[in-house]
Amino acid sequence: MLEIDKFKKIIIANWKLNGSIPYLNEYIENIQFDKSKDNNNCLVVCPPSTLIPYIKTKKFFIGSQDCSSFKEGAYTGEISCKMLKEIGCDFVIIGHSERRSIFKEHHKSIFDKCTNAINNKLIPILCIGENGQQRKENLHKEVLMDQLSKSLPKNIDIENIIIAYEPVWSIGTGLVPDQNQISEIHDFIKQEVLRSNQVRVIYGGSVKAANYKKILEIQNVDGLLVGGASLNLDEFNQIIKF
Ligand code: 13P
Repeated sequence: MLEIDKFKKIIIANWKLNGSIPYLNEYIENIQFDKSKDNNNCLVVCPPSTLIPYIKTKKFFIGSQDCSSFKEGAYTGEISCKMLKEIGCDFVIIGHSERRSIFKEHHKSIFDKCTNAINNKLIPILCIGENGQQRKENLHKEVLMDQLSKSLPKNIDIENIIIAYEPVWSIGTGLVPDQNQISEIHDFIKQEVLRSNQVRVIYGGSVKAANYKKILEIQNVDGLLVGGASLNLDEFNQIIKF
């Protein structure tokens, strides 16, 4: 398994349901990062799974946007962690809020996905986050605690997972929590829930070239999970200057 503790910051591009083979080729050609030259920081690109076998470059690490909660068998349409590893993935996004809300994913399948990822030496990027109503009602810490305690397998090497704090109300809306709010939540996750300074906690939700620096500067933010802005290479190339 790739050791992520050596990286200062980790930036992850989540393409969601976007992209094509020509777009991928252009992206690879024009992305201004090369992990053989900058090995202090980590860049992971997560395109739709069908594109992954077309990635011949070693400029960045590859992640999948999801994986099956099953290992193998009669599960039509699923892609297992073993299969993702075989095509070059080192990371997998698990429990993204779109999967939780649109595809009705629950803790048990998220827990199984994390277990399968770890067993196949894929680094899980476990997404958690409260919605707007929960934040308004000041329930956000309870929600995050619940998501973490029910989705994370016990006895795992906490240094080799990534938690992505993505407040649902911030995804695709242009609304971003202020620096104190982000710092408070990252502190809460590290100190109070997981009781580890080593665990990597990254932030996601409306990260843009205009705001990434201020977020990345926050001392307990270990990186960023970028959606829309990762598809605009002019903008993303600014963000991956780290
Ligand atoms: P946006 O950056 O488009 O808000 O999306 C965030 C996200 O969902 C990344 O996983």
